Amino acid sequence: MGTGKSCGGKIADSFEVNHSDNTILKDTIYSMHFLCYLASMPGLSKITITQFKNYDVATFNFSERVIGICGSNGRGKTNLLDAIYYLCFTKSYFTKTDAMNVQFSKDGFRLEGQFADNKIVCIHRGTGKKEFYLNDVEYTKFSEHIGRFPAVMVAPDDVELITGGSEERRRYIDTVLSQVDTAYLQHLIIYNKVLQQRNSLLKRFADTGNTDWQLLEVVDGQLIQPGNYIYQKRKEFTAALLPLVQQFYNQIANNEELVTLQYESQLNENDFHTLLNQCRQKDFILQRSNGGIHKDDIGIQLNGQVFKSTASQGQRKSLLFSLKLAEFEMLKSNKGFAPLLLLDDVFEKLDDNRMQQLLHWVCKQNDGQVFITDTHKDRLEDAFTNLETSYQVIEL
Ligand SMILES: Nc1ncnc2c1ncn2[C@@H]1O[C@H](COP(=O)(O)OP(=O)(O)O)[C@@H](O)[C@H]1O
Ligand SMILES: [Mg+2]
Repeated sequence: MGTGKSCGGKIADSFEVNHSDNTILKDTIYSMHFLCYLASMPGLSKITITQFKNYDVATFNFSERVIGICGSNGRGKTNLLDAIYYLCFTKSYFTKTDAMNVQFSKDGFRLEGQFADNKIVCIHRGTGKKEFYLNDVEYTKFSEHIGRFPAVMVAPDDVELITGGSEERRRYIDTVLSQVDTAYLQHLIIYNKVLQQRNSLLKRFADTGNTDWQLLEVVDGQLIQPGNYIYQKRKEFTAALLPLVQQFYNQIANNEELVTLQYESQLNENDFHTLLNQCRQKDFILQRSNGGIHKDDIGIQLNGQVFKSTASQGQRKSLLFSLKLAEFEMLKSNKGFAPLLLLDDVFEKLDDNRMQQLLHWVCKQNDGQVFITDTHKDRLEDAFTNLETSYQVIEL
């Protein structure tokens, strides 16, 4: 990775848990639960955290739409947001492995959240086995949970989304699309699996000196269909994202600067089959796959210049929030209700003006539930009071 942020791996990682025979019955029960849940905005009213990171056992009740979480550094503000995120995504936003979420020297953790009428439970057992339940029905595949309880996190290191490598931006796209399009997540899981197989194959060819062209052709064929699907969806997504990002950027930065986003993919120039053939020689030499949607990126410009090399820190922060709020809007319009918004230490990230703009949007223009952490209780309360919004403050 090499970046400051190591958020929970790729969205498609580790979703293929399958440990039940009675899939059809469970699917039916899920559908019923799903219909019930659609009827209401799934605000979080309560969470119980057991042996998760710094929490031994703790229960929090949330009674307002706007919730401030305050406490000095190291008290567990970020961990509380992460526990909420975990219940929505079946994984942490921050840690790469589940072992890192288990409280030091303990065996496993448990999270339970009440989202309107829905109870979500995650049990991570000491053996490493993880179980996820919606209203006491266990999921056969974690991927089925994704998108049911949409959430958007904004955390201090997220500026990597702009300054970091292309995988950060792919993760961003994948996180949104996986929540709005189940088929997208399935294609992504398949694509990643086949890509891994292809890379192992290339290594084996190099190790043994035997190249099985036919086998490679077969694997290539398996890559093309999910790859094309993902390409098409990412292309549409980027096009739909641009006007939202532009609008938020101008609103937060309070100026008319022009932001552009471009979907950069090798498939813009070639169809996938041709691309795989073109890359084949290079693939053999480097023993990995050089062509495909795993190389995609979003190019970002500000007034026609490459954003990350010219933008100031303030501009980067404005863009980060614009991308995150655009994600939020996309999820909201797709789901028909607002996702949870988890804002970690945002007061540290923006000047007063931009902060006011942002908070006004978050607390007044948006009708979803929002969790905001800060080290200063007074600062939080003043901001909420100024906005004349009702709120709840939790002190850790
Ligand atoms: N697996 C773990 N077991 C126990 N404590 C942990 C674990 N992971 C992180 N912590 C502790 O959590 C604390 C940080 O919590 P965090 O939510 O980041 O605080 P805050 O956001 O309030 O500054 C640190 O003291 C860290 O040691
Ligand atoms: Mg923190």
